[in-house]
Amino acid sequence: MATQPAEKGFSHKKLERNVSLLGLFALVTVAIGGLVEIAPLFWIDNTVEKVDGMRPYTPLELAGRNIYIREGCYLCHSQMIRPFRDEVERYGHYSLAAESMYDHPFQWGSKRTGPDLARVGGRYSDEWHRAHLIDPRSVVPESIMPPYAFLAENDLKTDDLRNDLTALYRVGVPYTKEDIAKANEDLKAQVDPASAADLQKRYPKAQVRDFDGDPTRLTEMDALVAYLQMLGTLVDVEKAAPQEQAHVADAPQGKAP
Ligand code: HEC
Repeated sequence: MATQPAEKGFSHKKLERNVSLLGLFALVTVAIGGLVEIAPLFWIDNTVEKVDGMRPYTPLELAGRNIYIREGCYLCHSQMIRPFRDEVERYGHYSLAAESMYDHPFQWGSKRTGPDLARVGGRYSDEWHRAHLIDPRSVVPESIMPPYAFLAENDLKTDDLRNDLTALYRVGVPYTKEDIAKANEDLKAQVDPASAADLQKRYPKAQVRDFDGDPTRLTEMDALVAYLQMLGTLVDVEKAAPQEQAHVADAPQGKAP
């Protein structure tokens, strides 16, 4: 005689007729999926592959980055090159996760009124950047980027860089005690080749020179140009992630901006 399995012991029927039980089981099931997705992020250090050359920002670069955020440059510029052939041909090697691992907040961006800046470092001279920021139309006649001439006039405010480094340290950026203690000296050392040896030891590939064309002053222009000139220059990407053409997909539709 055929017995109804549903009538025996713990059955699906029971589960489906008991709202609380069904809710509980649904929650458990969904939670498993959720955990699988979320748990790795708690070990983000293991999730993001380490690459050689990545280091925290120097105080001057960080000050420049703060200005970049203050002025909303991210509203028109992204800093993430996607692994599509047209992007890679235009901007260079696609961005690696590790290249933004010390970014708080990240600057990936969602809009490109202007070009991606993830690898703009070293592409132009400091003079070009100055001229471009003071009056974009002087170097790119059809540009619609607004002018930022005041950056060359404003002295860089230097009173709180140690706090900035401490805050970043607290969210996991590996600044050392020495880095934090010397933040304000480092800031000035980066525009003065005579006193930058110590800075360059702690921050490999830090570019040291006067960035704004006026060695007598430390301006917001110094900081912003120092930041722009380091973007994408720290990691030898071809070594970290050799780029085979086959791995660079064609954009799904049309040309990306
Ligand atoms: C309203 C949108 C807009 C804003 C805001 C903006 N830009 Fe631009 N930017 C552009 C456009 C458009 C271009 C391309 C034309 C040109 O080179 O001027 C550009 C070009 C650039 C370039 C040259 C990139 C290349 O590869 O040729 C740099 C560097 C740059 N911007 C930096 C900045 C910085 C730094 C800020 C903030 C202080 C900023 N931009 C704010 C629109 C903007």
